[in-house]
Order: sequence, then structure tokens, then C-alpha cells
Amino acid sequence: MRYTTDFSVEEKYTYLDGLGNHHQSEAFPGAVAFVNPYPQQAPYGCRTEKISGTAFVAPRAENLQTYTYRSQSSYDHSEFKPWHHELETANPAEPTKFTPNGYWWSDFASVSEGDWTGQHLLGSNGNARQKTGVALWVFKLTKDMKPQTVFSSQDGEALIVPQSGALDITTELGRLLVRANEFAVIPRGIRYRVGLVDGKPCRGYIWELYQGHFRLPELGIIGSVGLASPRDFQVPTAFFDGEVIDGIAVANNGNSPWTIITRLDTRLWSCTQDSTPFNVAGWQGTLYPYKYDMMRFNPFSNAAFDHHDPSLYCVLQARAYGKEPFTSVLDFALAGPRWEATEDTIRVPWYHRNTMSEVIFPVINDPALPFNGGTKFGPFAGWMNAAMVPHGQTEEEYQLYLNQDTSKPVKLQDDGVSVTVFETECPLMLSEWAYNTAEKNFKSQASAVYDK
Ligand SMILES: [Fe+2]
Repeated sequence: MRYTTDFSVEEKYTYLDGLGNHHQSEAFPGAVAFVNPYPQQAPYGCRTEKISGTAFVAPRAENLQTYTYRSQSSYDHSEFKPWHHELETANPAEPTKFTPNGYWWSDFASVSEGDWTGQHLLGSNGNARQKTGVALWVFKLTKDMKPQTVFSSQDGEALIVPQSGALDITTELGRLLVRANEFAVIPRGIRYRVGLVDGKPCRGYIWELYQGHFRLPELGIIGSVGLASPRDFQVPTAFFDGEVIDGIAVANNGNSPWTIITRLDTRLWSCTQDSTPFNVAGWQGTLYPYKYDMMRFNPFSNAAFDHHDPSLYCVLQARAYGKEPFTSVLDFALAGPRWEATEDTIRVPWYHRNTMSEVIFPVINDPALPFNGGTKFGPFAGWMNAAMVPHGQTEEEYQLYLNQDTSKPVKLQDDGVSVTVFETECPLMLSEWAYNTAEKNFKSQASAVYDK
């Protein structure tokens, strides 16, 4: 039994363990101010810069904020100006395609290759100006970001999932290696660079949450343990690009200005500054990026009969505030390797009409792995079940499950394969390209996900 993914790319960074903890990390000993977070003379000649992720008055359990201690503040920069608004990726049309159909993408062939700035908007609901809903972006990375360049989003918190390949991410608060079968979350406004690992391409998707933050779900009657454990989330350690000279932290700012590219209302803007964003000698707080290996998920399931709701696979959720109670802007559920032991039960989800819209992507750590015996569903694809539209099995698939021997448990899915399931309370409007390249009213989802 494996508890972690057998990654082909070796880990190269160190992390702090635990989501929800108040963390502290120092690139140099004593870089975080002692007791008084805002002293007149911060260590190493640094300046104090606070990043607030929630309103100041948010309750303690919800409050997210971090103090950074950096050799230069981020305050001095040029005016933000539109960044390549002639490009669809930098200035995408508002998604408008809205039909009752389910959609299937066996590939995202029309998505162009590029660097992190070349993300394609697949769809969205709500909008960033009102801080409602989510956007879904797809990326095909074949290049590092340009030197002296960073990205951030003022629209929302990014849940980044590589479906194949790996990402080398340097954030203001430290570095993360994010490989297929891991995902990362980068809070709104945090600046970061994304590069390839050994020049190999990486494909995946990003959910950008316009409202609030991703949180661990409550466990209710499950009790105190199970599903994703807070201790299994990994938080980067402080990274300072520079050195200490005569007791002063001196950053390596390079020979040219840094370009800060930022997303605002789905469009990209840029400004320049002389200082590197990676000049944080230490930080302490509750707002930080993190990553998670999906093999660490501890799933629960029916032990006798029936089929549980996918909420039992919930990894993270973003609750919907001021809306219908108990709904989410986004529920992120994950089905990984697990045992199916129910008897006298159709061992595949019921035919279903869901008040939530469902978007499903597989993640395959090793692209050579057959996906449950091999189907057309490759490592870079997804599908969507529109709200209140029936989905389930074809008659052929149903007949197989109808006659299946359910007297013995079976293991579902290979190690290193995860099916990520997202449920959103509002219908997702699709971009033109996503709509045009989708198979509509598809009928084959059971064979893609479940063993026969
Ligand atoms: Fe469903």
C-alpha cells in the first residue's frame, strides 16, 4: 500500500507541514521580527509588508494574513498598463455559451502552447468584480516564464492541477514543485513565477476562486480524522534570492527591471519595478501557498450496500456566502485508488440529475498507465455534467454492472491516478473555443472512470 505518489520527478524543496497552522519561515536566522511584528528596525535591514487575505475583522478561525520581511517593499513600481490585450489569452472574451448539454473534451487540441501567461479561459460563473463564482483556465506549458517576470491574480485564489508533467513554482513565500497527482493553491495577489522541470511540458487546469478561500471541509459525524488530513498539506519555506552583506539582506535584483503581470477581471496588466519580488527574508502568518499529494487522501466509502454521495470525497471546498445554505462556489472531490466492497449494488453512481454543475478531470501521474484498462479518455481531457441534466451509464455499461459479481471487493484505479471532481452551485458559461471543441450530449462517462 502506497501512501504517497511514486513520482518520476524527485522533490527538491523543503516544506512546512500543516494547513491552517500559523507558520513562520526564515531564509536567514532571526529574519522574522521577534514578538513585535512591526519593529522600527526589522532584522537584516528589512521592511515589514503585510498581506491580508481576509477582512481585518474576520473571526480568528477564518482570518488569513501574513507578515513578510523584505529587503525592499513592493510599493515602488510603475503604472499598471494593459498587457498584450491583442491576445485572446490576455484579454479573453466573456464566456457566453450556455446550453443544457453535457460536454466532453477528449483533448484540448485548440489550446495553444506557451508559458504561464498563455492560459485559456474555458468557462466561468459569477465575476471577479463582484467577488462571486469561479473561472476555469486550461494551460499547456512548453516554456518557462520570461526572465525577471512574475504573475499574480487579483481576481482570485488559484487551485492549480497539473494533469501531466510538473511545475516549478517560485512564490514570494517560497518554492513548490508541483507534479501530476499533486495540486497547489496560491492565494489571491501572491506573486510567483512558473517554470518547467527539465524542460518537459506540463498540461493542466486552474480553478480561480473569485470569492473567499479554499478550506478543508468539516467532518461532521465522520469524527475527527479522515479524508484530507491538515498535516499532509505542504507549505513552502522562505526563499531569499540574494545574500546577507554586513548584516543587511541584499537581494539579487538582476540587470533589468522586473515585470509584474497581474490578472484583473480576466485581463492581464503589467507594471515594472527595480526590486525582485523574491526578496522575502522571512514571513509569518496564516496566508500562504500550499500543495498536496492526492495519494495521501484517506477515502471513506460504503461498507455494505448503496452508493455514497461524492461529497464523501471532498478535499477542499469554497463555501457560498449569502446564497442558498450548504452550497459551495466550488466543492473539490477526489476519487483515487480505493476498494469497492458493496454487495447487491450497482457499483457505479446512480443515474443522476444534480442541482450543482459537475466538472471532472482525470490526473495521471504516469501517462503510460492504462486508464482503467484503456479508454479514449487520455491524460489531458475533461467533461462537464450540466445542472439538472441526467447523466449516468449507457445501456451497455449498465448491463455490465447489472450482472457484475458483487460478492467480493475489488480495487478501483491504479496508483497515481486521480479523478478530480468539481461541483459548482452556478452553471458554468463556456468560452467559444471550449464549446466548439466539445462533444455534446456524450454518453460514455462510466467506462472512463469505473472498472468493469
Ligand atoms: Fe453526478
